[in-house]
Amino acid sequence: MISSHIKEFSKNAHTYDAHTSVQKEVAHYLVSKILNQPKRILDLGCGSGAVYRSISWPIDQFTGVDSAHAMLVQHPTCKGIETRCEDFESLAFQQTLEPSYDLIISSSALQWSRDIEAMIRFCAFTCKEGAFAVFTDKTFESIYAHTGLQTFLPNARTLLALFENDFTCSHEIKTFKLFFEDNRSLFKSLKKSGVSGGDKKLSITQTRALIQNYPHHYLEFEVLFVWGTPKSNGL
Ligand SMILES: C[S@@+](CC[C@H](N)C(=O)[O-])C[C@H]1O[C@@H](n2cnc3c(N)ncnc32)[C@H](O)[C@@H]1O
Repeated sequence: MISSHIKEFSKNAHTYDAHTSVQKEVAHYLVSKILNQPKRILDLGCGSGAVYRSISWPIDQFTGVDSAHAMLVQHPTCKGIETRCEDFESLAFQQTLEPSYDLIISSSALQWSRDIEAMIRFCAFTCKEGAFAVFTDKTFESIYAHTGLQTFLPNARTLLALFENDFTCSHEIKTFKLFFEDNRSLFKSLKKSGVSGGDKKLSITQTRALIQNYPHHYLEFEVLFVWGTPKSNGL
């Protein structure tokens, strides 16, 4: 079954790039801290290619995986790039991968994992080095506070402890603010970004009230960045 956030990404793929400056900044920052120029790279939840576009060194092979086909068609293509339309959590898919990527990277995608702990462990077994950026529960904090809804996003400290089980790593927790001229464009962008997860939890009346009464002209995001090497993976 295709989950609601994947449907949302597919539906909005044509406008995704114009509405995702935070995700682009996150991908760029994540890649900018990778210093040893890995040559064989696997990108989980590659979308339209923000990670690939941020890589400035020569590489041999780049595999981008995403379950939203409409995102993948916007990914750069050239010799050495392979894109695969797959659910990165599927065991059948994971078993097809070679266990020797120099780098597994995932930017703004792992927060939707059904089992993020298993994903982190899988990455530790499949790479020499990992780089991850994950949206955390402080993302859209004001909207959640205003509506009384519960975030589905993971807490940064809890998440970091999971990474530290399997990786020797460094980390940063960064906040980003995205400013808008008015609430209507703020909510339009929120919907198109896909970061909201695609779950329709507010009624139309509640959404209208939120657009009218939301007290800020910005959206806030919190991102956990992790860079590390697996503690043991048999490679
Ligand atoms: C916010 S976008 C980020 C895309 C890109 N990494 C970037 O930095 O712009 C998240 C992407 O993860 C993909 N995604 C989420 N869960 C996935 C899963 N289980 N398997 C494959 N792709 C997934 C979505 O389809 C979407 O394209």
